[in-house]
Amino acid sequence: MEFDARDPAHEIEGVPFPTLARIRSQEPICPSPTGGWYLSTRRHIDTALKEVETFVADLAPMAGLPGTEVVPPEELFLSEIPEPRHGRIRRLYNSNFAPHRLRNTEEFVTRTCHQLLDPMLAAGEGDLHAGYAMPIPSATLADLMGLPSEAGDKFMGWSFDGTLMQRPGTPGINPSGPPILDYFREALAERRASAAAGEERPHDVIIGLMDAEIDGVALSDAEIVTQLQFMVMAGVHTTRALLVHLAHRLLRDRDLFERVAAERDLVAPLVEESLRHDAPVQATTRRCTRRVELDGVEMQAGDWVEVGIGSANRDETVYDDPDVFRLDRDDPRDHLGFGGGPHICPGATLARIEAISAVNVLCDRVAEMSAVEGATYPPLPGGMSHLPIPARLTAK
Ligand code: HEM
Repeated sequence: MEFDARDPAHEIEGVPFPTLARIRSQEPICPSPTGGWYLSTRRHIDTALKEVETFVADLAPMAGLPGTEVVPPEELFLSEIPEPRHGRIRRLYNSNFAPHRLRNTEEFVTRTCHQLLDPMLAAGEGDLHAGYAMPIPSATLADLMGLPSEAGDKFMGWSFDGTLMQRPGTPGINPSGPPILDYFREALAERRASAAAGEERPHDVIIGLMDAEIDGVALSDAEIVTQLQFMVMAGVHTTRALLVHLAHRLLRDRDLFERVAAERDLVAPLVEESLRHDAPVQATTRRCTRRVELDGVEMQAGDWVEVGIGSANRDETVYDDPDVFRLDRDDPRDHLGFGGGPHICPGATLARIEAISAVNVLCDRVAEMSAVEGATYPPLPGGMSHLPIPARLTAK
């Protein structure tokens, strides 16, 4: 058996969960056709996510890179920074996205959701993907970074034109890097000038990084703009996928929508069950730093390991009815939707606020929604697909 976690067919045809169930029971660590291994069970994945010295995070395959390029230390994305510096930079992410920093975020997201729904409700129809799920995460991150609202549109534009994940030095592009880096360099320079002039500015994520010190040393401009770029890479499309999964499911399951709208305590378990059942990130990648044996399978130094989060979230040894979408799980947060171990997602609180607010506004404003007859809908989970979710909408 083998499994290709990055097969583009999954976006169109859906993730083959029955195949994954067979892999979990017959060959839980199986080869990946891209050369390497696919881990399918919760037990193996918990080990790989925890043992970061042996299974090191490497983003090259996700960014479509061969993994052989040498990146200067200042340009490493958070996940790739070796310990102990990784843990120290991570603390800066954690403090920037800590609950007290997100005090006003629910209000911002709620306002944004209302603005997005207004024209769709007036028209009686709309695309819940491009018109709702897609703009919310980028607008929210731009707001937290203290940037004007058009920054959110820019983040989306750079993701569609393929420059979002580029690094300085990528062959064929401007040596100073992709446009998002120039944009952040400018925003940083502006804040440095304000600080030098003694001006008071409200705290934002960029100022948070600018004022931070590690062992008494401030971050360089290159480090700051690299991490800002990574926040957009890591935080926008993942949250977009969660929001589109939620909107899609509520659109297709009228009973669920009515139940959740009537009982708002169910919104948080709905979001968690979506993260489990329809994990936005179906797989993440590790690279073996040494020869290692995992449950009888020998892996060599340099081997790529695909960590099957989506499969672990359906592991029958962990969950009753793993393929059933249920709102009554004993511990709704017991899933790997945000990863685990030292690289667990530092944006989870933010993503949860966005998802809960987006569902609440749908429930507040929409009396009924239904699928458009004859329209083709993407599979659930649709992962990173950008297919539309056309809906007929009736306002309350
Ligand atoms: C529903 C939304 C989200 C999902 C499903 C998600 C999922 C994940 C997962 C699975 C990981 C672990 C990756 C690994 O171990 O290789 C991760 C890490 C990360 N996420 Fe999220 N994420 C979401 C939202 C966000 C947001 C909003 C931000 C920030 C603005 C963010 C920033 C990060 C960063 C920086 C890391 C790397 C952490 C590290 O390596 O220490 N994520 N995320």
